[in-house]
Amino acid sequence: MSTHPIQLTINGRRHDATVEGRLVLSDFLRGDAGYTGVHVGCEHGVCGACTVIVDGLAVRSCLMLAVQADGAAITTVEGLAADDGTLHPVQQTMRDEHGLQCGFCTPGIVMTLAALTGGPNKANSETLLNALSGHICRCTGYQGIRRAALKLAGDAA
Ligand code: FES
Ligand code: FES
Repeated sequence: MSTHPIQLTINGRRHDATVEGRLVLSDFLRGDAGYTGVHVGCEHGVCGACTVIVDGLAVRSCLMLAVQADGAAITTVEGLAADDGTLHPVQQTMRDEHGLQCGFCTPGIVMTLAALTGGPNKANSETLLNALSGHICRCTGYQGIRRAALKLAGDAA
């Protein structure tokens, strides 16, 4: 078993760890770092539940090794709301549009939408809906999620 030192930033806090080469990032974030808002469904890149933001990009953390995140800045759903509890615009919009039911798929969807709407080049509705097509909601509440994406893009739902 080979282990490797890694150093990364999660939600603005530095983390130093020694991990096995085979450890996937989703298991590191949940098990080692304690960010259980990273949900794990399929474990092979299909459902989108494990999506986090890595250096500005939405990434399926079950498809990335923890060692590959060495030096990266990661945001999980726990890092979105302000310190005073004010929700991130994506969280607030999902709430307003009733975009969640059991909530299992929600962190991944929120992180994908946050990655695509957070920068200066905000994605349009087509891009957001295309990105959502890679997320599975087992409660099948897709209409609320879709309305939230359209609202975030600035289009009428
Ligand atoms: S758990 Fe990673 S995509 Fe499903
Ligand atoms: S809200 Fe339950 S899986 Fe999507």
